[in-house]
Amino acid sequence: MPPRATPPPTSSDAPAVTAAQIEAAAARLDAGELVAFPTETVYGLGGDAENPEAVARIYAAKGRPATHPVIVHLGPHGDPQYWVDALPADAQKLIDAFWPGPLTLILKRAAHIPPAVSGGQDSVGLRTPSHPVAQALLDAFGARRGGHGGVAAPSANRFGHVSPTSAQHVRDEFGSSIYVLDGGRCEVGIESTIIDLSRGFAALLRPGRITPFEIADVLGVAPRLPDGSDATAPRASGTLKAHYAPRTPLTLAPFEVLEPLLVAARDANTRVALVARRSCAGVWADAHDVHFVAAPEDPHVYARELYGLLRALDRADVARILVERLPDTPAWAAVNDRLGRAAAAFEANP
Ligand code: TXA
Ligand code: MG
Repeated sequence: MPPRATPPPTSSDAPAVTAAQIEAAAARLDAGELVAFPTETVYGLGGDAENPEAVARIYAAKGRPATHPVIVHLGPHGDPQYWVDALPADAQKLIDAFWPGPLTLILKRAAHIPPAVSGGQDSVGLRTPSHPVAQALLDAFGARRGGHGGVAAPSANRFGHVSPTSAQHVRDEFGSSIYVLDGGRCEVGIESTIIDLSRGFAALLRPGRITPFEIADVLGVAPRLPDGSDATAPRASGTLKAHYAPRTPLTLAPFEVLEPLLVAARDANTRVALVARRSCAGVWADAHDVHFVAAPEDPHVYARELYGLLRALDRADVARILVERLPDTPAWAAVNDRLGRAAAAFEANP
């Protein structure tokens, strides 16, 4: 096997979360308060999914429009049937194949679930994460609700900003106002794949670690892809064109398009960041007036490091972030998607 660009995180990265901390966090959720917790994808900002006031607190903390649905997280002992009108056979197949893990399913919501979690839509997004701290929290909270508790949790960042992949990122977003369980760095690093099954067929709403090919393998049919032509697709904030953005303007383009921008920045005495694979960056990798970051050559490693990198570049005192567009291949689809949305935030005003 080739050497990895970055060693995978080990359990030693993760500070120990005690049983007492888990219980304290579950008690907060029970009382309608918010708790930030780690998942294998990104940190979530959680509240009791069946308590509309708790859900309203999530929207208020994030500054997110109330029409945007949030994902309901279930523990490994949770019961997806409780949340949905009916569990289609395809949903059960995907659950068996990918839960616990980075896959969210959009299904028809059961009538007794308050619509606040769905932004008023008739569906509900469900996911069982694999991170042990998330699982412990979700099962502890579920136990307080007769096994049926679910935790509504969007990514623990302010609306439109970069998702957090460490407890420190959450503190950077919200200060000390939010209780955070520190489960170390997130292993996947970008948000879950979202598959909509609420309309009688499978449709990909958001790409992630689990690819459309893996979904097709399980369902025997490929999910519809989000090409913008699906006018009945449910609203999902992660599907907005401009999302996941750093504060520093970001441009995403093939390296040959970035090179003239690097020359122009040099002529103007402006310091910019360049994120590109070393194999593509040529002399710019060593230019003293460029803040060069060698992009990981492996898509999974890139995804894991992406949001931490964007946050670091926001602190790097550069006028602009120039990012090499990755190859247009399935392996890079999720990373290209997040980078494309980060860049789109600046396209009206480059
Ligand atoms: O990996 C993840 O999914 C992370 C972790 C915390 O689990 N969560 C996350 O949540 O990314 P958030 O809210 O930032 O993004 C959830 C996406 C949004 O695009 C939301 O609109 C969509 O899921 N979503 C949730 N429920 C939905 C529903 N009922 N119908 C359509 N989209 C839904
Ligand atoms: Mg988000």
